[in-house]
Amino acid sequence: MRQTAIKAAKEAGKIIMQSFKRSLTVKHKNVVELLTKVDTDSERKIISIIKEEYPDHEIFSEETSNKKMSSDDLWIIDPLDGTTNYVHRFPFFCVSIAYSHKNNVVLGVVFDPLRDELFFAEKNKGAFLNDQKIKVSDIEQLSDALLATGFAYERGSIMKKNLEKIEKFLSSGIHGIRRTGSAAIDLCHVACGKADGYWEYHLKQWDHAAGSLIVTEAGGKITKINGEDYEVFKNDIVASNSKIHEQMLKILR
Ligand code: IPD
Ligand code: CA
Ligand code: CA
Repeated sequence: MRQTAIKAAKEAGKIIMQSFKRSLTVKHKNVVELLTKVDTDSERKIISIIKEEYPDHEIFSEETSNKKMSSDDLWIIDPLDGTTNYVHRFPFFCVSIAYSHKNNVVLGVVFDPLRDELFFAEKNKGAFLNDQKIKVSDIEQLSDALLATGFAYERGSIMKKNLEKIEKFLSSGIHGIRRTGSAAIDLCHVACGKADGYWEYHLKQWDHAAGSLIVTEAGGKITKINGEDYEVFKNDIVASNSKIHEQMLKILR
């Protein structure tokens, strides 16, 4: 299963890199959300590799209309996380693949093809970046933190709520806030200690399924923004090195 997930992520990464910097046909899913042929080609490749090995498993993938949620064996896929970046050649995008058994993510791969960085985690077996074990940062105070967040495509009440939280965090005296444009990469940054915490409203399960396991296996914590236990099909999330989690929740609640 590990080999299948890694092979699928790497093959998708090849497709993504072949078209990077070439002219792209860009469609609009709605006013702000973009779609390229690379999203769908990458998805097709990933699904064919998984289905070859696991024909009975179900697929929940961003660009597939036929999404199955209720299966014991479910693959949750974002074939290109960071499409807006990719279209603009802003260098943060990746492939995210998770395998969930009975609604628990037990395997996660996030592959950044531009940097050739493969993040991988399996339940109870630790988290790795290109075979090197990774762990979260060890800062204890929010005031020492570099955080990341994302802006939902929704530009109404969710945007306003997030802007309020950004203001609160910044005025609480943290070191800074970054916005890469790829939720899966943000989660991996928390997992390897490049960021200390991350939150985002209104994500989709394919954005965070793989990254959630990578964070927890690296010693971090992920919950819903209201503080309840993480659930793969819920979409307002906060992840951290665990030590600053309560301090982040205090601002986010
Ligand atoms: C998006 C990215 C972005 C996040 C959005 C996601 P997409 O995914 O992860 O960082 O802020 O909420 O939808 O559309 O590029 O796959
Ligand atoms: Ca995404
Ligand atoms: Ca995507």
